Amino acid sequence: MSEREPIGVIGVGWVGLVTAAGFAELGHQVYARDILQDKVDALSRGEVPIHEPGLPELLEKNRERIHFTTDMGEVIQNAQLLFCCVDTPPTYSGDADLSRVERVVEELGESTDHALVMKSTVPVGTGRWIQRLRSDVGYVSCPEFLKEGAAVADFMKPDRVVVGARPDSAEFGDRVEKLYEPLSAPIVRTDVASAEMIKLASNAFLATKISFINEIANVSEELGADVEEVARGMGLDERIGPHFLRAGIGYGGSCFPKDVSALKQLAGNSGYHFQLLSSVIEVNELQKRRTIGKLQKHLGSLVDREIALLGVAFKPNTDDVREATALVLAHRLIGEGASVRIHDPVALDRASELLGATRLCRTAEEALDGADAAVLVTEWPEYRELDWTGAIKDSMRNPLVVDGRNFLDDEALRAAGYTYEGIGRSTASAVEA
Ligand code: UGA
Repeated sequence: MSEREPIGVIGVGWVGLVTAAGFAELGHQVYARDILQDKVDALSRGEVPIHEPGLPELLEKNRERIHFTTDMGEVIQNAQLLFCCVDTPPTYSGDADLSRVERVVEELGESTDHALVMKSTVPVGTGRWIQRLRSDVGYVSCPEFLKEGAAVADFMKPDRVVVGARPDSAEFGDRVEKLYEPLSAPIVRTDVASAEMIKLASNAFLATKISFINEIANVSEELGADVEEVARGMGLDERIGPHFLRAGIGYGGSCFPKDVSALKQLAGNSGYHFQLLSSVIEVNELQKRRTIGKLQKHLGSLVDREIALLGVAFKPNTDDVREATALVLAHRLIGEGASVRIHDPVALDRASELLGATRLCRTAEEALDGADAAVLVTEWPEYRELDWTGAIKDSMRNPLVVDGRNFLDDEALRAAGYTYEGIGRSTASAVEA
C-alpha cells in the first residue's frame, strides 16, 4: 500500500465535503460520490454549496486531487477505504434513520477487499447490524467531531481521532489510523460499539452542559446572580473546564437535538430509561420559549407588535438552519399575533421557505427600523458593530433588546436608554454594580 492511499467519500454533504477536502490537503486522491447530479456538477465546477469558513479555499487548492462523481463504481475501483458520510436524520420516533446507510451497503456490490469507514453518526449497534448484512466487507467506526463554522480547523487539529475496528478488520483500522498520522492527534483505538458510543455520549454530554448552564442562568435571574460570572468561576475548575458554558436560548443545529434524542431512544429501546437526557431535551425546548415571556414582560400582548429577529443560522459562521432556534421563535411569535421581521448575513435564503409569514430583511438595520423589540438569536460578530446607541436607537419604535446570547454590551445599551434582557444577566446585579 502506497504512503498516501486513495480514499472514497460517500455522501458529500457537510461532513463528506470537509472530509474530502481535508484528506486531499493531506495528499490523498479522493473519490467523492454523491447521488445528486446537480451537486456533483456544481462541485466539479468549483462551486461550494455550503457556507463553511476556509472550505472553498481548501477545495480549490486541492481541486486536482478530488474527483466528484455520481458513480459508486468509480469510487470502488479507485479506493478501498470508503468513508460513509451520508446523513442519518431523525425519524418521527426520534431514532436515527439509517436508510441512506443501508443503501450505501447495498451499493457496495461484489467488492470484498474494501472497508466501510463510518463517519455518519449512527446508533450503537450499527456496526453489528452491517456485519450481518455484509460480513465480507471490512468495517471501521471513525466518528467525526467537527463543529460547523470551524470544521476545517477541527479536521486539521482534532482533539482526538476515534478508530473502532471489528476484530476481522484490524488491518483496515490500522490503515485508517495511518491516514490521520500527519495530524499528530491522540488516537483512541477501540471496538466498534464503544466508538459509536463515544460519539453519541460526547454530543449528549455537551448538550447536557449547555442545558445545565441554561438552568443556572434561569435561577440566577431569580436570585440576582450573573451567569457570565458564574460560568467564569466554574470554568476555571479543571474538572469542569470553560467550554460549553455559554448560557443562551438553547442549542440547535443538525447534531445535538438529533443525537441527544437518538441516544435517549436507543437507551429506551434497550430497556433503559435515560432520565437525564429527557430533562436535557425538555430544558432546551423551554429555553427557546422563555424569550416570548421576556418580550411579554415588557410589551404585554404581542398582537401586532413588530419583532425583529437577528440571526437565523443555528450559530455564527454557518448557513445551516436545521433545528435553528430562530425558526421556533418566529413561529411562536406569529402564533402570538406578532409581525416578525428577520435578518441573517448568510442564511436568509436557505431559511426563507421555513419562515412562513415573516418579512425577510437584507440588512439588520432594515429589520430593526420601526421594531418594538430586537431579539438577538445568533451571535454574528457584525451585530455587535451595529450603531445601537445612535441610528438604530432612533429607528426602533421601542428600545427593547432581548439578547439571547449575552453578546451585546448590556451596560452601553442600558446607558443609551434601552430596556435590556439577557440570559441570566440579572438586572439586580447590574443595579448593585
Ligand atoms: C456539534 C459538536 O460540537 C461537534 O463536536 C460534533 O461533531 C457535531 O455537533 C456533530 O455531531 O456533527 P455543531 O452542531 O456544529 O457541533 O455546533 P456546536 O458548536 O457544538 O453548537 C451546537 C449548539 O449549541 C449551537 O446552537 C450553539 O449555539 C449551542 N451552544 C454551544 C450553546 O448554547 N452554548 C455553548 O456554550 C455552546
